[in-house]
Amino acid sequence: MSLASADALPGEFTFTDADFEALARLARSEFGLSLASSKKPLVYSRLARRLRARGLATFHDYMALLDRAEEAAERLELVSALTTNVTSFFREKHHFETLRTALIPELAAQKRIRIWSAGCSSGQEPFSIAMTLLHALPPGARDMRILATDIDPAILRKARAGRYPAEECETVPAEFRSRWLRPTPCEPELVEMGPELKALISFAELNLICDWPFAGPFDAIFCRNVAIYFDQETQQRLWSRFAEKLRAGGFLFIGHSERLAGPALPGFGTAGVTTYRKRAIPGPAQPT
Ligand SMILES: C[S@@+](CC[C@H](N)C(=O)[O-])C[C@H]1O[C@@H](n2cnc3c(N)ncnc32)[C@H](O)[C@@H]1O
Repeated sequence: MSLASADALPGEFTFTDADFEALARLARSEFGLSLASSKKPLVYSRLARRLRARGLATFHDYMALLDRAEEAAERLELVSALTTNVTSFFREKHHFETLRTALIPELAAQKRIRIWSAGCSSGQEPFSIAMTLLHALPPGARDMRILATDIDPAILRKARAGRYPAEECETVPAEFRSRWLRPTPCEPELVEMGPELKALISFAELNLICDWPFAGPFDAIFCRNVAIYFDQETQQRLWSRFAEKLRAGGFLFIGHSERLAGPALPGFGTAGVTTYRKRAIPGPAQPT
């Protein structure tokens, strides 16, 4: 490690505090990611394989590479390395219970139903929504769609394929499993989501901190375990933008360690654990 400066971490690659700060600035401005200086060792270990893959010796060189316009794919590799894709079917089960008992009875009277899974990872979240909806509401003449977005094109390819190891599907209720999940003939260890489920979902690449090229309004937005990576300002802007995209009475479901705060808060009432409902008329402003 002879190249390392005084503030570089011990290891294979030189990583100075200045490199870390430049990386944190880029991660924040392009992706909303919050990297406190305490995360420097974690960032080093997560990105070391990218430097190895690109044949680089220093984080300074990696930053120079990320700066090039043609390195958009590497910038996505950066997000992938700094966040996780951990997800599962019917994760945080109480949200699906609320969807079933509080929202679906209202949706039954609607001709148009729109739900957004924002930060859908490999698809288990939108497929869980699709099963809950289809179980209660046969599509029939209804215009029913789930939009499922993520920043990571590789994870979206998995989501679109809709094939999962059988043991991952154990959290799908047995009744739903027998109705919509099917074996994949060529890959016996995998289970495939049925065509009725796939037909409900549109998968699309979207960086949540950029423009959203769709109008809404949505009846519900699931954005769970995504904002946790963002700094407070980015989180609060996101809640306000979700409020604009929800209809009055629409639900916002967020992750177990996330909290709604900031200017959007008076516009929502609580409707369960990490569950919020957009008010028709905003309540009194909250102290920040
Ligand atoms: C931990 S997964 C959450 C999956 C699912 N929502 C759940 O709770 O099970 C976080 C996802 O957020 C995505 N993500 C991170 N930053 C993002 C951004 N700026 N815009 C959109 N998606 C982002 C990641 O690619 C990852 O798939």
